[in-house]
Amino acid sequence: MRLASAVIGAVVAAGVLASVAAWLGATRGDAEGERAFDGRSPLSARIDGHETPLPAQASACANCHWPSASPAAGDGTPAALASLGPRLTRAVLLEPAARRGGPPSRYDEAAFCRLLRTGQDPAGVMLPRAMPRYDLSDAACTQLWRHLTGRAR
Ligand code: HEC
Repeated sequence: MRLASAVIGAVVAAGVLASVAAWLGATRGDAEGERAFDGRSPLSARIDGHETPLPAQASACANCHWPSASPAAGDGTPAALASLGPRLTRAVLLEPAARRGGPPSRYDEAAFCRLLRTGQDPAGVMLPRAMPRYDLSDAACTQLWRHLTGRAR
């Protein structure tokens, strides 16, 4: 009996530890994704058709996409920013929408990473060249995706 409760106690403790570790991992991924988005962690990128990498200050997502943490529309987003790239919210990425004249599509992590690397959106439509092409590791892309969608996975 005593052994059984000790075993149960150990299993519960292991479960709690595992969820804390998973939570910490997800939070850290978000924080690193936010740093990359804001330009505090430089990302390697270039404009399609150009060999020379963009300067680190130019490749930050937040230069063209209003930071996802800021309040929703009608918030005084400067016109210059609003006109370059869409606000990248969880809803914009995850809900089906007709993008750039293509059929309705939405992003998952794989589609998001493909877009960043190749410029091709989930419906196969190419983005305008104004959006840089990124040379990203899988881990860096996952961190950005987690930051923007707030998902643990
Ligand atoms: C120099 C400006 C610029 C930078 C820097 C930039 N983007 Fe973009 N982005 C754009 C433009 C322009 C579009 C296309 C807008 C359109 O088609 O209406 C775009 C489109 C997108 C889309 C497609 C949205 C949709 O609805 O299909 C995603 C996702 C995206 N960018 C993510 C990022 C991420 C993540 C970063 C940083 C790693 C980034 N962008 C950096 C300009 C930029």
